[in-house]
Amino acid sequence: MRMENNTILITGGASGIGYELAKQLCEKNTVIITGRNQARLEKAKHELKNIHIFKSDVADPQEIVALYEMISKSFPRLNILINNAGISKKINMHDEHDFIHLTQEINTNLSGVIYMCNQFLPLLKRQKTAAIINVSSALAFVPLSITPVYCATKAALHSFTRSLRIQLKNTPIKVIELMPAGTETPLLDEFEQSEKDKIPIMPASQVVKIAIKKIGAGVVEIRTGQSNALKMMSRIAPNFALNMLNK
Ligand SMILES: NC(=O)c1ccc[n+]([C@@H]2O[C@H](COP(=O)([O-])OP(=O)(O)OC[C@H]3O[C@@H](n4cnc5c(N)ncnc54)[C@H](OP(=O)(O)O)[C@@H]3O)[C@@H](O)[C@H]2O)c1
Repeated sequence: MRMENNTILITGGASGIGYELAKQLCEKNTVIITGRNQARLEKAKHELKNIHIFKSDVADPQEIVALYEMISKSFPRLNILINNAGISKKINMHDEHDFIHLTQEINTNLSGVIYMCNQFLPLLKRQKTAAIINVSSALAFVPLSITPVYCATKAALHSFTRSLRIQLKNTPIKVIELMPAGTETPLLDEFEQSEKDKIPIMPASQVVKIAIKKIGAGVVEIRTGQSNALKMMSRIAPNFALNMLNK
């Protein structure tokens, strides 16, 4: 897929991997980013200039409908949807949690992606070439037990993405999955330094550079950093991989 002259929607594009995608793609493509925080979106627009912003929460189906109405009117040539928005929480199941706290990651990382695909598919199908790029994680292969719900959402998203690829095989829409391992972004602020020291962490700029190159080369499952090793280990020695990650 040529990463030029496209119209690209990136959810969660005001920070981290989404921001880097916007930064590296906005010179040669029309880029629209979303997020929940208007001030962060405006800061991204101020820095990158050549992007469009729209406040929208992927966990709220009504906001997805509003986003679709705006995009289909103002950017009818939208041909790439990047489902990047995501949150991660450390959750200890020994503690008490309310339902909202426990399900927020599911609503954002999994249901949000499914709602977005459902809403934008008719528009994407009308384009000559199109893509849906879902950002899951290396933790789809092996869970990190301190973030149990996050890892469950990413494993489910990996499964959903593979099914979607098969269902859309006779359409112009390519289904691509970006599966980063540890990446230096605000998502990792949740972790103690001692926890971060245990895993190799790549700069977001490098992850995105690899992703854009591989999308251009036609790769549909893009793994960065330790993601390749985790995939292989999860196949040949699943318990060893689980114990190693959760030492
Ligand atoms: N960093 C890593 O090590 C790593 C590794 C593997 C996979 N990933 C995945 O990469 C993706 C991007 O994360 P990141 O690392 O770049 O972290 P990040 O900097 O925290 O970015 C996440 C973005 O998602 C937005 N967001 C969160 N909830 C949202 C919602 N309900 N609706 C719309 N936007 C929402 C956030 O903006 P607002 O708060 O303003 O809404 C933020 O801009 C995520 O899917 C994450 O799971 C990250």
